[in-house]
Amino acid sequence: MTDKLIIFDTTLRDGEQSPGVTLNADEKVEIARQLTRLGVNIIEAGFPVASPGDFNAVQRIAREVGPLMEGRTGENRVNEPVTICGLARCVEKDIQTAYEAIKDAPRHRIHVFLATSDIHLEHKLKISREECKQRIREMVGFAKKLCADIEFSPEDGGRSDREFLVEALGVAIEAGATTLNIPDTVGYNTPQQYGDLIAYLRQHTPGSSTVVWSTHCHDDLGLATANTLAGVSNGARQVEVAINGIGERAGNTALEEIVMNIHTHASTYSVQHTVDTRMLFATSRMVADLSGMPVQPNKAIVGRNAFLHESGIHQDGVLKNKSTYEIIRPEDVGVTTDNLALGKHSGRHAFKSKLDALGYGAPALSDAQFQTAFSKFKHLADSKKSGVTDGDLHALIADVRSASLGAAPSTEVPADLAADPAAGGDPAAPRFTLRHMQVFTGVGITPTATVTLHDTKAARDLTDVALAQNGPIEAVYSAIQRICGLDIALLNFSVSATSEGQDTLGKVAVRIARATADADKDAAEPALTASGAEPKFSGLSTNVDIITASANAYLAALNRLVSHHAADIRAPHDVRNVNI
Ligand code: KIV
Ligand code: ZN
Repeated sequence: MTDKLIIFDTTLRDGEQSPGVTLNADEKVEIARQLTRLGVNIIEAGFPVASPGDFNAVQRIAREVGPLMEGRTGENRVNEPVTICGLARCVEKDIQTAYEAIKDAPRHRIHVFLATSDIHLEHKLKISREECKQRIREMVGFAKKLCADIEFSPEDGGRSDREFLVEALGVAIEAGATTLNIPDTVGYNTPQQYGDLIAYLRQHTPGSSTVVWSTHCHDDLGLATANTLAGVSNGARQVEVAINGIGERAGNTALEEIVMNIHTHASTYSVQHTVDTRMLFATSRMVADLSGMPVQPNKAIVGRNAFLHESGIHQDGVLKNKSTYEIIRPEDVGVTTDNLALGKHSGRHAFKSKLDALGYGAPALSDAQFQTAFSKFKHLADSKKSGVTDGDLHALIADVRSASLGAAPSTEVPADLAADPAAGGDPAAPRFTLRHMQVFTGVGITPTATVTLHDTKAARDLTDVALAQNGPIEAVYSAIQRICGLDIALLNFSVSATSEGQDTLGKVAVRIARATADADKDAAEPALTASGAEPKFSGLSTNVDIITASANAYLAALNRLVSHHAADIRAPHDVRNVNI
């Protein structure tokens, strides 16, 4: 019998702390759904006290995703609902708020943390070791009265004094902790040091055998995966990981790397997990698309190049026998290398089999999403003579999912966290759709865009024209803003090709927020930027024409923004003069 390894996913908490990543509640719920289907045991859904938006997202995940069993049943699967976890400092208000956010999930956990290293105690918390132990006793005890499943983390454990850690962790066990997680918060440890630390703590902490020991490693020195595996070799039975390794600074341990190491070296790590490895690539793409953090091409397991063989010698070897240069079968992580592009004669069955192989089998897509994907595919296959590649299909699915990411009903927020800027809006069909667009651009002229949107609420078409200094996309975006009567800050814009060749599709991802005028009174025109408190909305679209993709991606994000701010959006207008 091998031990169970608990996969604790922190993509939505530590992962969301990555510089530049801000996911809205809909996006977090969508990612959480995917994580349950993937088969993780615990989702750390956020830090509920951090903001009303965080609270709302964690509560929605607890309610909407906590009970789901889709994709979790069967042999070698989890066969129980996912545990939803909320993070809290060693402070009553944090713990109470975390509990309110997670309590509606059938399985829930509070994760309490307090730093234990002398550096943190002296300079950050300004408390003594005794005070630190006292707080752990009181706050873990407080959390235990609310919830049976309590995790405690000594922050900066990797640089804490071992003897003191043993004392502090002993106190946490006495107060009711059921999981002890040892963070190498700043990614300082070597694998030898971290493995030894886990072994030492397990051996010396009073009551050690009554708790699950857990790893939490950061990647500042590129050692997060190695350190986590060293922890597992020394008895840790929970790993804290994030998809694509996103997280604070250089990130966390990548879920896909841990799972595939265990898969590849089953006899070295005698633990079993319940992750469906065939969904890893699709999950990685979803997180990259929604978080706006692209995956580097040479990233292990999920990078675009992870299974490509460039040199003639390697290609020759792989053609003769794949095991010459492949230690992982690409299909085991949801990558197909058969290069079989689907064409316009491919039917529903071939399309479905391909989606299954790419990790989008039921229940990853609802019936309605599958139908939309199939008709989009048919459309694309008609226009793309060289065939629809896997890259195109990944983008097409991202498109379909992006379109169905609507604003959800807001849920109650504790009174002291009210004035919620990021709580959801009303569920709504897209408010604006693109009717016509004419773009005039070139060298030595000012780009101009004439755009007609259909306002589905008012059932009428609205047209505007805009000029731009910086190119045709800026002109299109200005025209759209003028029609909607909104000032929008464009926070992120990226365009990438979904495959190779001249008829590749362009995939455009944007992130926007309502703009607030900068207070620079001397400037001729106020600069429009997003304030940190403004909720952010993303949109994604794929098209053979990147200007059309850019317009549709912008509209997808804008429809979400409009639905969120429904109450205070000015009415759009018919036609306006062009300011030159
Ligand atoms: O890195 C860290 O110390 C953390 C804790 C909150 C677990 O993320
Ligand atoms: Zn961390």
